[in-house]
This record gives sequence, structure tokens and C-alpha cells, in this order.
Amino acid sequence: MSANDHEPSTANRFALVTGAGSGSGRAIAIALAEDGCDVGILGRRTEALEETATAIRALGRRTCILSTDVCDESAVAAAMEVFLAWSGGRADVLVNAAGIPGPLLGETIGELKVKDFDAVMATNLRGPFLLMSHLLPVMCRQGNGRVINIGGNHGMRGRAGRASYASSKWALRGLTRSAALEVGKHGVTANLVAPGAIAVDRMRQRWADQAEAEGVSEAVVLERYVQSLGVALQRTNDTADVVAAVRFLAGEGGRNITGQEIVVDGGVIV
Ligand SMILES: NC(=O)c1ccc[n+]([C@@H]2O[C@H](COP(=O)([O-])OP(=O)(O)OC[C@H]3O[C@@H](n4cnc5c(N)ncnc54)[C@H](OP(=O)(O)O)[C@@H]3O)[C@@H](O)[C@H]2O)c1
Repeated sequence: MSANDHEPSTANRFALVTGAGSGSGRAIAIALAEDGCDVGILGRRTEALEETATAIRALGRRTCILSTDVCDESAVAAAMEVFLAWSGGRADVLVNAAGIPGPLLGETIGELKVKDFDAVMATNLRGPFLLMSHLLPVMCRQGNGRVINIGGNHGMRGRAGRASYASSKWALRGLTRSAALEVGKHGVTANLVAPGAIAVDRMRQRWADQAEAEGVSEAVVLERYVQSLGVALQRTNDTADVVAAVRFLAGEGGRNITGQEIVVDGGVIV
């Protein structure tokens, strides 16, 4: 029998989700609440987190708003103190969903500004590292815990014009796998979900702007997008697709899975 054989199901657990004010992070936070977790929600914009909090409370679960920049080491430390005081010292699930895409104008290495590269690495890699530095020791002491990092399919291959983003998501895989090897003996798992394009508000706006600029419908822009990427299933992700993979890893199905990457991209990385 291993340390996590007595792990409770998702119900009555404390989860922390970063990037929970919008997009996949918000959808994941609400889904974990539906599954019975009380959920700490972290992001920079308090108003955005308030909306997520309202949805969580409507499900009868507790929530704790942490208005924090994941790039700020001391702010993350302070937020983790607040979270652990709120949860009675427990941390059962950590989902690192906060992330930024970085420059989107196809800047090549040489054109890409160092400050932009640094900002992407600080948010997408150093941020998850900071959160894990605080919560993995807690999970190890408990003898169970699930860390789920949200990577991206650009971290499964190279991507011209997206070097900072691709590098950050590649590096997140190394961080996740190394963590899995370090904490496995304590019954703690660490895995990564690597989505392709997700139809969140920010992406929908990009597709709408492009459609308007070209005088075509959004459907035409989307169709061209999935064709250009060679998406086998010829569709982009909804947040529900990402949520399903996270739920699986956070739930019973993920009990004996660690150091793995689930690519949720409709079949681009095949
Ligand atoms: N959308 C896609 O096509 C796609 C594809 C593959 C992977 N992903 C990844 O999926 C994850 C979620 O992104 P999304 O596109 O679903 O949603 P999103 O709407 O872009 O949400 C990202 C969230 O991260 C938070 N965030 C950004 N920088 C932060 C910082 N320094 N500190 C704290 N929070 C920060 C933002 O909130 P604040 O601004 O309030 O801080 C925002 O709520 C990201 O890691 C992203 O890289 C997205």
C-alpha cells in the first residue's frame, strides 16, 4: 500500500488555482468546486477573481481570493500564508494556469526584446516554480497532493516567432517531471496538461479582429487557422476540453500517474 492509497476523492479537498480570473483557470476553479473542493483563486485582477468567487460560492463551496502577481516572490509568499491559514494548513490540488502568450507579432530571436522574454519566463515558468516551492512541502507532509501545470502544445515542438512562449512551456515540462521524481515517494503527483489553441475571450477577440480586418466571417478565420496547424479533429479547444484533463488528473484516475504530459490539442502533436 502506498502513501496515497488513503487519499480522499476530490471532495472535501483544498485546491489552489492560479490564473483563475479568466479562461481555463476560471473554468478549472469552478470545476474543482463542482467536484467538492474549496478553492483558493489567484490572479492579479481582483474584480475578475470576484466573478469566479461568485460562481464557486453559488456551488456551496468556500473560496479565498488571492490578488497576487505570480512573478513577485514576496507577494506569492504572503499569499501562500493567507491560503494555508484559510485551508487549515492543507493543500491538496495545485493548478498553475496563470500564463501569458508573450509577443504575438512573429518576433524572431534577434527581434524579440529581452524584457519580453524575461516577462514570459517569469510568469509561465518562475511563477509555477514559486507556487510549487511553497505547496509541495505541504503536500509531502500530508502524504498526498496533485500538481497540475498548464503548459501548451508549443512546448512540445518549436514554434517560429514564439520563442519565449515555447521556451517557457518546454521548461515547465522539465520542472514538472523533476518535481514528480522528487515528491513521488510522498504520494504526491505532478503532471502537465498541454493544450493547443483554446477559445477563451482573448483568443476569440483575436479571431474576431482578424475577421473584421479581412472582411470575412470568424468561421472562415477559424477554418483557415485549424487547417494551417493541421489539427486532426479540425477544431480548437473549449475550456471544457482542458477542464476534463485536469479533472482526470486531480481525481481518482490520476492516482498512479505522475511526470506525464497530456496534450489536448485536437491532434496537432501526433
Ligand atoms: N488560450 C490558448 O489558446 C492557450 C493555449 C495553450 C495554453 N494556454 C495556457 O493556458 C493557461 C490559461 O490561459 P487561457 O488562455 O486559458 O486564459 P487567459 O484568459 O489568458 O488567462 C490567463 C490568466 O492568467 C492570469 N495571469 C497572467 N499573468 C499573471 C501573473 N503575473 N500573476 C498572476 N496571474 C496572472 C491572468 O489574470 P490577471 O491578468 O488578472 O493576472 C488570467 O486570468 C495559460 O498558462 C496559457 O499559457 C492557453
